Amino acid sequence: MTASRLLHVEGSPRGARSRTGMVARRLIAGLPSHDFELLDLHKAALPRFEGETIEGRYALIAGEQVDPSVKADWDAIAAATAHFLSFDGWLFTVPMWNFGIPWRLKQYIDVLTHPGLTFTVEDGAVKGLAEGKQAIIIAGGALDIRAGGPAEALDFQVAYMKAWLGFIGVSDVHVVHVRPTYGTPAEVEAAMQAAYADADTLAADLRV
Ligand SMILES: Cc1cc2nc3c(=O)[nH]c(=O)nc-3n(C[C@H](O)[C@H](O)[C@H](O)COP(=O)(O)O)c2cc1C
Repeated sequence: MTASRLLHVEGSPRGARSRTGMVARRLIAGLPSHDFELLDLHKAALPRFEGETIEGRYALIAGEQVDPSVKADWDAIAAATAHFLSFDGWLFTVPMWNFGIPWRLKQYIDVLTHPGLTFTVEDGAVKGLAEGKQAIIIAGGALDIRAGGPAEALDFQVAYMKAWLGFIGVSDVHVVHVRPTYGTPAEVEAAMQAAYADADTLAADLRV
């Protein structure tokens, strides 16, 4: 594996009770020579991204400077993006919330995804600036939305994450599913054991 310094972007607010977090910790334990930095999105202070700040995006798209009144917000957004891009890759823990991703993770993605910061547009074509990096998604949910299953059409979680990562240039994406996490204790335990086994296999692959 080329990636050695990874940002663990924690999308679940459930701390030690988080099932995606449990599987992430198992994966991290299997990659002792990798450095992981934790970004707990539900505790982190994200840059302001509301009201007039959003007009800055339209200024950037038009190739203009952001308005001086929101420059401090955009400096914070640029710093958050530089921090994100400084890693070799990312480990995202992503529970499914209402068929999609938790709002705090979506907010982080909205903070990061701007022209000149994580992508550029050249001759009408989008070029992701995170090209060559790697992403691991630990995706949990009560529903089993895996490809080929009956709930596949409800996947606005993993499909969304992959679409966004592709947009910023990341094509090397590994997914570990933790699901279904709703059912009898035996069913949930079976889902956890399957996810741990997948995490162990992935760690072994990434150690090579
Ligand atoms: C606000 C909220 C909405 C949820 N919506 C869904 C959903 O649409 N589909 C689903 O499969 N599970 C849904 N769940 C269940 C979680 O995805 C599931 O409990 C998952 O294992 C949580 O992962 P975590 O323990 O790492 O936070 C939802 C949970 C919460 C808190």
